[in-house]
Amino acid sequence: MAGMRPWPRDTVVLGCDYNPEQWPEHVLDEDIALMAECGVGFVSLGIFSWALLEPTPDGYEFDWLDRVMDRLGDAGVAVDLATATASPPPWFARLHPDALPVTADGVRLSHGSRQSWCPSSPDYRRRALALVERLAQRYHEHPALAMWHVNNEIGCHNSQCFCETSAAAFRQWLIARHGDLDTLNEAWGTTFWSQRYSDIVDVVPPRATTAGPNPSAVLDWQRFCSDALLEGYLAERDLLHRLSPGVPVTTNFMTMAGIRDMDYWSWAPHQDIVSTDHYLFGGFEDPSIELSFSGDLTRGLAGGAPWILMEHSTSAVNWQQVNLAKAPGQLARNSLTHVARGADAVGFFQWRASEAGSEKYHSALVPHAGSDSRIWREVVDLGASLRAIGEIAGSRVVADVAVVWDWDSRWTTDAPSKPSQAHRYADETLAWCAGLRRAGVTTDFVAAGADLSRYSAVIVPSLHVATPEAVAALTAAVGAGTHVLVTYFSGVVDDRDHVILGGYPGALRDLLGIRIDEFAPLREGETVTLGAPHWEAVDATTATVWTERGRVEDGTEILATFTTGPSAGMAALTRRATAWYVGTRLSADGIDAVLERLLTDAEVSPALAAAPPGAEVVVRRHDDGREYVIVVDHGGLGGDLPISGVDLVSGATDAGGSIHLAPGAVAVVRRS
Ligand code: GAL
Repeated sequence: MAGMRPWPRDTVVLGCDYNPEQWPEHVLDEDIALMAECGVGFVSLGIFSWALLEPTPDGYEFDWLDRVMDRLGDAGVAVDLATATASPPPWFARLHPDALPVTADGVRLSHGSRQSWCPSSPDYRRRALALVERLAQRYHEHPALAMWHVNNEIGCHNSQCFCETSAAAFRQWLIARHGDLDTLNEAWGTTFWSQRYSDIVDVVPPRATTAGPNPSAVLDWQRFCSDALLEGYLAERDLLHRLSPGVPVTTNFMTMAGIRDMDYWSWAPHQDIVSTDHYLFGGFEDPSIELSFSGDLTRGLAGGAPWILMEHSTSAVNWQQVNLAKAPGQLARNSLTHVARGADAVGFFQWRASEAGSEKYHSALVPHAGSDSRIWREVVDLGASLRAIGEIAGSRVVADVAVVWDWDSRWTTDAPSKPSQAHRYADETLAWCAGLRRAGVTTDFVAAGADLSRYSAVIVPSLHVATPEAVAALTAAVGAGTHVLVTYFSGVVDDRDHVILGGYPGALRDLLGIRIDEFAPLREGETVTLGAPHWEAVDATTATVWTERGRVEDGTEILATFTTGPSAGMAALTRRATAWYVGTRLSADGIDAVLERLLTDAEVSPALAAAPPGAEVVVRRHDDGREYVIVVDHGGLGGDLPISGVDLVSGATDAGGSIHLAPGAVAVVRRS
């Protein structure tokens, strides 16, 4: 960031996607006045404006955008200017029908929605870069320009295109990765089912086929798709860095549990500032757990630095089966959870609820009801809160525990043809995140193979793909006395998705001191019971999804066994020195009991002893030692927080070492 134009940094800034092109121009006056009222400090502008900026091929019109930029600049609103390449205009499909994406079933998708382009299309790339070049030249000097926003949620709808152009690009990618056809055949295990390739031209994307596709091919395909999208991002970013030096460039990630196709560990180093979008998914039992997970993962991608929440919603979205409205106060709780997890900017989609178009029932800062509405009043309150807590900008989240997150493991775990389709990588991770939050402990997210030395405890959910680097990092951590907890289906395959022979968990056998002969997953809804005669909190707890049949090596302690089900009598929970292993999906009670012991042994304490039940507590700290305790009362019970200091949100100072938190409220307490 050295030499970069300063993105608003001295405060926690409120912002939104701003789509003024959806409205008559006079609405701009009201928009600017309302933005001042609630304190909007940045907007993402022009995200879906390509059809207005280039209404006819090579015919550009920037006058309207000039006027909007000028007005925003005069009003002191920083602009995160989009390159507008997310959605080409309809004429693009007419001129370049081959650039439309094709599904695995061979259906070529039409334009008419958004993001209808193949990531490997040279026509799309050429036309996109032509637009970016003009935007960069025109607006680089504009005083309102604070940041470039490349494309939008890259890969949101078109992450996998199965067309011939993609097939050719995939083949090139494979040759670059594997070198030659023999190595590729070996890596894909093509002796199986008569799949051996004698000519690279016969390799196709994993299109719809008769039965289970080749899993090694699918893993490479996932990697290729992520890389193809990243290449498009880098092409735009490089052009912007050349034509608009000193202006930070970002693209908004989608660090949500339901999004799986982009390996953001490989994307993150190419962002000048990491930004993400997050939408609550109503299908989760407690959506706020996944919200915290998303913030922690984003912070991990940002290397611990503050990041930008580019979008979330004031209330309901419009794209789920049932779109739940947020409860009163939830807007602030959700926003402050992101801030707690490291966001220094809180953005929303979108400024004004649309009158037309497929997102017209999506909430916004200015709802259909206008400014005489609950949502607007909560937005104004949020703006005031963010200004009040502004001094926390730039501080970092304090965490002694890490979770290892790995996209290769996610892709292979969630693939077809495995022991159980009920076992999903994100579900397993979220179950442990929920436990850690109940324990009041904040966690970082790290890549497999990353240095773990600064953590007291590390949770490793289903690290299915075990690279030598990942094994080395876990081994070094255990060697240094870090408590490392690994869960089932870890260490099983190498980075080609080949099983590591000799008993599971393959590459982690020695570290964990266990040897599993056979997986024995459970039927849907089936439950087994654990026995732990010397551990009351675990004894008689239940587990689901998975069991396995194995034995322990000398020096490994069995902490619990399965007492019922297909693996009755076998080890369910083991420990060798500080290496813990969990061979099943524990119930919440089981997870809580295991974490309690593990965190005690690792000497990790909660961010705040005696927090109100259901409240989330995170600590952020400046380099100079100023420390903030952020409490978000998801439980709605309120209570007295045992902290001395001042709550920057309410302005209350502690009385006798405790600060009152109203039910459902948020507090950001600067410790005295
Ligand atoms: C995001 C997107 C926005 C808007 C929003 C609705 O995927 O970036 O443009 O569609 O979702 O929730």
